Amino acid sequence: TVLIISFGGQYAHMISRRVRDLGVYSEVVPYAAVSQSTVEELRPRAIILSGGPSSVYEPGAPAIGDWVLKLGLPVLGICYGHQLLAEMTGGRVERGQGEYGRTRVTVDGPDPLFDGWGREEDVWMSHSDYVASVGPGVKVLATSKDTGYIAAMKAGDKIYGVQFHPEVRHTEKGVKLIANFLFKVAKVRPTWSVEGLAEKLVEQVRSQIPREDKAIVAVSGGVDSTTAAVIAKRALGDRAVVVFINHGLLREGEAEEVLSALKSLGLNPIYIDASDRFLRALKGVTDPEQKRLVVGKVFAEVFKEVATSDSSIRWLVQGTTYPDVIESGAEAGADRIKSHHNVGGLPRDLGLRVIEPLRYLYKDEVRRLALSLGIPESIAMRHPFPGPGLAVRVIGEVTEEKLRIARRASMIVEEELRRAGLYNSVWQAFAVVGDDKWVGVKGDRRAFGYIVTVRVVESEDGMTADWARLPYDLLQRIASRITSEVPEVVMVTYAVTTKPPSTIEPV
Ligand code: XMP
Repeated sequence: TVLIISFGGQYAHMISRRVRDLGVYSEVVPYAAVSQSTVEELRPRAIILSGGPSSVYEPGAPAIGDWVLKLGLPVLGICYGHQLLAEMTGGRVERGQGEYGRTRVTVDGPDPLFDGWGREEDVWMSHSDYVASVGPGVKVLATSKDTGYIAAMKAGDKIYGVQFHPEVRHTEKGVKLIANFLFKVAKVRPTWSVEGLAEKLVEQVRSQIPREDKAIVAVSGGVDSTTAAVIAKRALGDRAVVVFINHGLLREGEAEEVLSALKSLGLNPIYIDASDRFLRALKGVTDPEQKRLVVGKVFAEVFKEVATSDSSIRWLVQGTTYPDVIESGAEAGADRIKSHHNVGGLPRDLGLRVIEPLRYLYKDEVRRLALSLGIPESIAMRHPFPGPGLAVRVIGEVTEEKLRIARRASMIVEEELRRAGLYNSVWQAFAVVGDDKWVGVKGDRRAFGYIVTVRVVESEDGMTADWARLPYDLLQRIASRITSEVPEVVMVTYAVTTKPPSTIEPV
């Protein structure tokens, strides 16, 4: 394991992604949750300190004990991590002129960390503090060409700091640098792969749940929950009570599709149509977080009812993945952006103990795991669909009418993308409706109808996203089909904002 200690930047997970892609297992731990004894227990082969938004010289700034330097482990500090290491080894950090974006650095001589780098390279910077001087015995390895700031340093032979972000794609040789740190400095071997993980996860679930207990396995038909269910089924056999709840917020034809897909995987779910109940509970609710909490609450009620029907049910297995955990603010130091219903939205007094076999995996890793488990491509490659379903694609109150609009318009978006052969190359594609209206003319008559926003995004893991540059004629086809096939709509817009600042779903 490589331990990534997070100082609050979302970059920590990007570092983790790169390390895992290089075949080395990594875990992200918030700095506040890490102590010398947790590290000694985990026995990582190397430690990476992430970036973060603070300044090391401010009182109460995130820090880490200097035991981290005394473990004899290779350490790589990135950005804030670099500044922290500089300070801990006798250097000085000050407010500087700031370097943002592509920056040219000069590498001053050979070092294993910079193997394969030229004398000058482009890197990605994002900082306003800088390391003004290093402590005694600390070697400067690279400097920024324009500012002369210290871009990389080395203390002893295994402790490194880099001011730039090697985990970001714009640092052209960033992956090379991370690989050098792992394989040349820390000398770990690339033995980790998602494909080898299935058996381990099955074993974990089996050993966590006592033999006399049963577990509810909540499935939605998406890749995460289906993968978690296949693992739980293998681990528990008939003690896995697979439940598929229709909350009335599903896409067109989805309930039927999901049921038949789950059956073909041998999961035979208990099907509960609770549409009325969810829609009743959502009546009058307009606040986004409130909506998510309501959906979470009704889900929990239904699970509880299933659980009371059999006293040996004591567990709930869910397909929560890493980004859900992070964005719900379940991780210390991260801000709560949205309560993903399956993390923050579930009440604590559920009365069931929750198991999340995929909570350390990223989406594309789950997809590869799914394929390795024999889950068909039609599920493994499905776009993510949020737990609260169309409730988060309807802005404002969830009404039958707006649901119908979001459902039919979304179907058109997905259909046209499939037809254009683009479905698999985007992360998500859907339509959103709110309460705003637009005046139109339909068949020579004035029509005052809904505005539908189409959102199609590209993303690696849902943490950041870019809008898809779809061909104009495809956008045109989508827009004209929506206005002609969904009579309540007179205007279609296309969302062209990245995440951040927008999130992917509107609610
Ligand atoms: P946002 O909208 O936060 O979404 O940019 C990031 C990714 O997460 C999905 N999402 C959810 N998934 N329960 C889920 O299981 C939720 O409540 C939820 N909210 C958002 C979203 O579809 C996107 O892929």
